[in-house]
Amino acid sequence: MNSQKIKYPLILVNFKAYREATGSNALRLAKIAEEVHNETGVCVSLAPQFCDIRLLAEEVTLPIFAQHVDPISFGGFTGSVLPDAIKEAGATGTLINHSERQLKISEIAEAIRISKELGLTTVACANSESVSAALAALGPEIISIEPPQLIGTGIAVSKAQPQLVSGTIKTAKSVNESVHILCGAGITSGEDVAAALRLGSEGVLLASGLVKAKDPRIVLLDMTRAVTSRKGV
Ligand code: G3P
Repeated sequence: MNSQKIKYPLILVNFKAYREATGSNALRLAKIAEEVHNETGVCVSLAPQFCDIRLLAEEVTLPIFAQHVDPISFGGFTGSVLPDAIKEAGATGTLINHSERQLKISEIAEAIRISKELGLTTVACANSESVSAALAALGPEIISIEPPQLIGTGIAVSKAQPQLVSGTIKTAKSVNESVHILCGAGITSGEDVAAALRLGSEGVLLASGLVKAKDPRIVLLDMTRAVTSRKGV
């Protein structure tokens, strides 16, 4: 059983529903990420589609995350994503409220409560500074700030909206000082990761910059270099 622990700085890769990260392609990408982690020691975690969680958790030693869970326990919930099943499949944690899979605040609270009870690391996704403050009050381990308008653009939030990142860190930590902050949207290079770390975030949440890269290994090595070469390592 995988359920590897994460460490910071964290590079969390969201596979979304991209063809390049589905089924055997998800495994190929996971093996590349594991090689880069083994070479650099940087924590790289992966969020594949639900049907690939067990495959990746059994084949690589990286922490595997679900992209979403529903706020439910066992019962008649056809088509829902059961946190217990995600845990059983070997996941270490889960994203909650990604801008492409949003929940109501009461559902987010329940999804965090159930996931934490199961020992799943919770990454609550916020699309604004004020939402990150509300989410911080619900006690997730991690908050990821992601302006939806930058998702998939290659325009890195850490460069285009640095004040959103630094403001979110300040606001979220004023509500819950132990919460870890990631930033995401448009992250495609080591430089974008370095900018995110300089702003005080503890890592990044990214997708297309790596999943759709011509050479994912080169891109990921560049990103991990930003972590290992930062001051005070
Ligand atoms: O979950 C991260 C994702 O929404 C960011 O997307 O493609 O801009 O890295 P992308």
